[in-house]
Amino acid sequence: MNLYKLRADTPGTKNVIHFNNAGASLMPAPVYKAVTDYLYDEYMFGGYETADKYKKVLNEFYSNAAMLIHAKSDEIAFMENATSAWDMAFYSIPFRKGDRILTSKVEYASNFIAFLQMQKRAGVVVDIIESLPSGEIDSDALETELKKRNVKLVSITHMPTNGGVVNPVEEVGKLAEKYNALYLLDACQSAGQYPLDVNKIRCHFLSATGRKYLRGPRGTGFLYVNRQQLKTLEPVTLDLHSAEWKHKESYEIRNDAKRFEKWEAGLAGKYGLSVAIQYLLGLGIESVWDRVQYLAELMRNALQAIPGIEVLDQGKIKSGIVTFRSGSISAEEIKKRLREKAMNTSVAVRSHTLIDMEERKIDTAVRASVHYYNTEEEIETFSETLMSLLK
Ligand SMILES: Cc1ncc(COP(=O)(O)O)c(C=O)c1O
Repeated sequence: MNLYKLRADTPGTKNVIHFNNAGASLMPAPVYKAVTDYLYDEYMFGGYETADKYKKVLNEFYSNAAMLIHAKSDEIAFMENATSAWDMAFYSIPFRKGDRILTSKVEYASNFIAFLQMQKRAGVVVDIIESLPSGEIDSDALETELKKRNVKLVSITHMPTNGGVVNPVEEVGKLAEKYNALYLLDACQSAGQYPLDVNKIRCHFLSATGRKYLRGPRGTGFLYVNRQQLKTLEPVTLDLHSAEWKHKESYEIRNDAKRFEKWEAGLAGKYGLSVAIQYLLGLGIESVWDRVQYLAELMRNALQAIPGIEVLDQGKIKSGIVTFRSGSISAEEIKKRLREKAMNTSVAVRSHTLIDMEERKIDTAVRASVHYYNTEEEIETFSETLMSLLK
């Protein structure tokens, strides 16, 4: 990787030390240019006319996203965020009373809230699978539960929002397939840092967001739905883009993943996300994943060396999401003081991954999430600053 070029492409790195990539990464220049060029044309020539002009490149969004996860273009839907993508898949599944949903202990709050709503609404049963001591979902425990009857859905988060765990999504996929369960993967934090391959993962649905590790603009994301599901799964809501009103009494749903989209969308953002994915594909996702792991390890080691700091991450393999706490200063306060020094972090709160945080007795943690464009020097400056703040 040509780090000099990557950082020149990322002018934000001149202003801040950005360790909030799990919140939203700094966009590279080509993404910013795509979004602003597109908006400028809307401003000067009209929204529909601009969409006509950019028709070809807007369409490339689907092939770029498909290439990223080894899917087919017609299995991709553009969404405004990961939650909408996940919701579209989840709420479209025809759950019946007694259907079981198997999930992990690090499930994201929005997903778990949806499980609880479905429990109230349809009478599904939510079973939380045990984790290994290292934090990942325990595949043996998952198989034991899959062997029991009525499992409709296995729904897990690949990389939790609150730490380094990387769930064994390929292993989970093999089991879900063996026992004929649907498999929904929340890849919100992994898309852009991990080499996702839906053929290896064998998921039926995968949700992703644009602004985090993909380095796209805010308000963008996508949903993958595998072809088999496209034949049968009716989206929970429809409009004149996802379906065609053929006769007074009938409509026909389109047969690609766009059946999960709505007609209206932020097209400047869609173009921006497409360019962001192209940029990433140009770098090579394997090199990105190697560098993210390397920098995250460096960050954890630097933090561990600071008296009074406890690194909280679990995981046999660890993601770019690093979390820690101090015995003396609150996470919010640390974030605030770092921000004053132009260093961006965020705070992981208990209610966002409630089960895991309760079990590990963590209320809040500082989250310092690295991306490939961060540097060793930034980590050093960050840890030195943190040390001085704690004195
Ligand atoms: C694991 C995980 N899933 C889902 C989401 C929701 O993503 P979005 O805000 O794009 O809807 C997040 C956001 O932080 C997340 O960390």
